[in-house]
Amino acid sequence: MTGPALKKVDDHAAIHEAALNEAKELNAILFKLLMKDQKEKALEVAHVAIEHWETRTLRHAEAEETGLYKDLVNESPELKDSVTALIRDHDTMRYLVKEIKETLETDGMSHEVLQQFHTLIHVDMYHNLEEERILSNH
Ligand SMILES: [Fe+2]
Ligand SMILES: [Fe+2]
Repeated sequence: MTGPALKKVDDHAAIHEAALNEAKELNAILFKLLMKDQKEKALEVAHVAIEHWETRTLRHAEAEETGLYKDLVNESPELKDSVTALIRDHDTMRYLVKEIKETLETDGMSHEVLQQFHTLIHVDMYHNLEEERILSNH
């Protein structure tokens, strides 16, 4: 999605909500599989979840950084610090996704990894709140 489309706070919030709902569903499936001790199936779903974070949220983040955020700071230089904080949230999510991928490769799927997937959701929820607040005040 291009910069101008992401500027409409309602449309933008709908993108956030759809991606988060999907992530929450994947976490619920992972929890059930781990409880049933279906480790191999859980590993497969964990890879699907990683792909979900990469292709939805992290790609969305990249589009924001190369478009929307630049426009925001150009139009309203006073938003620079807020935008820097939003980029830091993106970096935190990138870091978590990388950590999960590495752990999956070395140790496979576990409850610890599921906790990291939950952490991603919390970071993203707070990030989206802040982003939507900034957009709606802009
Ligand atoms: Fe963002
Ligand atoms: Fe966003």
